[in-house]
Amino acid sequence: MPIPSDDALHAALARVNDPEIKKPITELGMLEAVDVTDDGQVQVTVLLTVPGCPLKDTITRDVTAAVSEVEHVTGVDVRLGVMTEEQRGALRDQLRGGQAEREIPFARPDSLTTVYAVASGKGGVGKSSVTVNLAVALAEEGLRVGVVDADIYGFSVPRMMGITQAPTQVDDMILPPVAEPSGVKVISIGMFVPGNQPVVWRGPMLHRAMQQFLADVYWGDLDVLLLDLPPGTGDIAITVAQLLPSSELLVVTTPQQAAAEVAERAGAIALQTHQRLAGVIENMSWLELPDGSRSELFGSGGGQAVADSLSRSIGAQVPLLGQVPIDVALREGGDHGTPVVAAGNVDGADDTPAATALRGVARQLARRGRGLAGRKLGITPTARASS
Ligand SMILES: Nc1ncnc2c1ncn2[C@@H]1O[C@H](COP(=O)(O)OP(=O)(O)OP(=O)(O)O)[C@@H](O)[C@H]1O
Ligand SMILES: [Mg+2]
Repeated sequence: MPIPSDDALHAALARVNDPEIKKPITELGMLEAVDVTDDGQVQVTVLLTVPGCPLKDTITRDVTAAVSEVEHVTGVDVRLGVMTEEQRGALRDQLRGGQAEREIPFARPDSLTTVYAVASGKGGVGKSSVTVNLAVALAEEGLRVGVVDADIYGFSVPRMMGITQAPTQVDDMILPPVAEPSGVKVISIGMFVPGNQPVVWRGPMLHRAMQQFLADVYWGDLDVLLLDLPPGTGDIAITVAQLLPSSELLVVTTPQQAAAEVAERAGAIALQTHQRLAGVIENMSWLELPDGSRSELFGSGGGQAVADSLSRSIGAQVPLLGQVPIDVALREGGDHGTPVVAAGNVDGADDTPAATALRGVARQLARRGRGLAGRKLGITPTARASS
């Protein structure tokens, strides 16, 4: 009695696609064994990617149909197994084209991107305004800049940067919208929730969202990544410290002493998470009056006080990077989606008072660049040889 040939059986099985991945099971390492008895009975063992795969009936049916058509087959018996962790890993690698799985590029030890997390102890002090303006100013300094709106509950970055387009998805990769003309790449949870709905997420989901923003978004090569954090010292701040241990904090405060104390607490988080403190930015420092005098609406000295106090507690100099005055143009820029430091004004000649101050902060950050000064190096200093 003639029996079905191996070649014919494999050709038939190569036409069976995994219903989810849409590729032949023979290419995915899912075909474990094909046994043929003398009377033409064929037993096919298929490995499912996960146990209890909801599509196992589909696979069984498709394999049965394909094999039944082969000449001399008298019966088909499909057995299902499950891939080992190793086999699954190999499949994942194969699908990702050899790329490491969901790696956060900025967390690699050889990453050249400086990551700043913009934080504050309390809300409404101007974190988002500072973030978007620094992003644009840094881009105008010639750096490649990305912004993550990490304020999941109060996302505001897309509006402030005038971004209305949604991210494009290519397989499991998200292409971030680009703000023009600055070329700053921006991603925000606001781009994924329809119609400004409030987002109510718990810690683990926040962690996952951040992980995705950092790993699945195609950022390309960035010089600087800015993260606009929600106010306070909550889950997101801790998540950021975990996912990006080399990120540095930029603390925003107002001149008010009460606000300064809160900002200090935000900065003190850096001590626990071992993040570096890049510096303090005081916002709403004063209002310039038409006669050129300054009205200190919210008090004075808060920014310097926070910088001094943080310097003392971490035992290293934390600079006050700038004082940003109250400036109607800054608020309007945010409302209209055109950051006040932006465009048509690259030389800064026509800058408003707030834009001048923010550009000054950006220059200092750009100068810090990627120097190794103050960076945590993976080496332990040894005692100096005495000469
Ligand atoms: N220097 C400034 N001059 C004038 N208006 C300002 C200034 N800084 C911020 N604002 C305005 O204050 C409001 C709050 O600013 P922003 O949203 O940047 O603060 P935030 O710290 O990000 O707030 P939240 O904690 O809600 O995220 C905005 O309307 C913004 O336009
Ligand atoms: Mg904000």
